[in-house]
Amino acid sequence: LKALILVGGFGTRLRPLTFSTPKPLVDFANSIYINANSLSRPMIFHQIAALAKVGVKEIVLAVNYQPDVMLNAMKEVEKEYNVKITFSIETEPLGTAGPLALARDILCNDSEPFFVLNSDVICLFPFQELLNFHKHHGKEGTLMVTPVLDPTKYGVVVKKQNSTAVERFVEKPKDWVGDEINAGIYILNPTVLDRIELRPMSIEKEVFPHMARDGELHVMNLKGFWADVGQPADFLSGTTLYLKSLSKLPPNELGPKDKLADPSFYTSQNVVITGPNLIHPQATVGKGAKIGPNVVIGENVKVGDGVRLSNCVLLPNSTIKDNAHVKDSIVGWHSTVGRWGRLQGIAVLGEDVHIGDEILVNGGKVLPHKSVKVDIMEPTIVM
Ligand code: GDD
Ligand code: MG
Repeated sequence: LKALILVGGFGTRLRPLTFSTPKPLVDFANSIYINANSLSRPMIFHQIAALAKVGVKEIVLAVNYQPDVMLNAMKEVEKEYNVKITFSIETEPLGTAGPLALARDILCNDSEPFFVLNSDVICLFPFQELLNFHKHHGKEGTLMVTPVLDPTKYGVVVKKQNSTAVERFVEKPKDWVGDEINAGIYILNPTVLDRIELRPMSIEKEVFPHMARDGELHVMNLKGFWADVGQPADFLSGTTLYLKSLSKLPPNELGPKDKLADPSFYTSQNVVITGPNLIHPQATVGKGAKIGPNVVIGENVKVGDGVRLSNCVLLPNSTIKDNAHVKDSIVGWHSTVGRWGRLQGIAVLGEDVHIGDEILVNGGKVLPHKSVKVDIMEPTIVM
């Protein structure tokens, strides 16, 4: 089995994190629900781990550029999951369909179907069910779909009556079409390549509508949570959904390192923990801290005494000093929040950002390597 992951461009919507790390390598949660040796879990590791679990042996990463960090990270992944990873590098962005034509030689070297994934989606990745269902109906392609409240940001699918076949596929509709959207996870037969040319081409606008018209496109409902985590607000809400789903999984599906923070473990330090949270074993938490719900504390993070955290992600090697309060925000790698400091309103600190003592950051984005010494009252970009 093979897969192609659409990794694409520079992840501009996840700036300032993506100034220092390519989007697929931004950590998402500390662990994954399938066996894993390492505890650092970039987004793309979640996808690759799930693909490897169903027997995928070869993965194409469709990229516009190939930074060395990606190359090195993928060498590690190849070993960990016993998969072969090939970079397919575009000289101009080929959209969401063109990259399939560029990788034609790999995707079409046998008649087996292959998986295609958007790189910014997180869910439980039920690839085995998708494969079984796809083989069962026998048509050219199957998409996973999930209901959302605001379908206008997505590709909307309308099914034929009493059928899983797609009648219409409408990308980013302005008017109401339906609320079932394309989750960005597909399985396609190699014959799909007959519909795709080697040029910038959108699979959502130029391929799926035609497949639907020909009765060759089916959908499968995705069970459980789903999130596109390519923007800060969605990254945080996706983290919340992920933690909630971890708390519901049967213990035998959890690896030893996927354990949600155990409140009783910290009672001697008067730490109060509520709701699902992930606290890395190599992180430290000070006396009297209040943590939760929906907090991810990464590797080597230092949380001071009396700190209050909720709905936030602290990326590896960051420091939250005594009595600071971080809510609804992301703290970048090696960054610090000063004593009595406060982050709120979807503030995002890039790598190596330092927020002074007693400083407020209310929303906005702080670019890497900045020191903030005055309050930021409104969501702005701090350069
Ligand atoms: N290689 C490559 N080249 N990848 C690309 C390119 C390109 O030129 N353009 C986009 N991508 C990758 C992105 O990195 C992402 O992983 C995926 O293709 C989808 O692009 P997005 O820019 O994230 O699209 P979207 O979120 O607005 O919409 C897509 O995803 C939704 C689900 O999150 C569509 O597939 C929608 O139909 C879908 O509902
Ligand atoms: Mg997206």
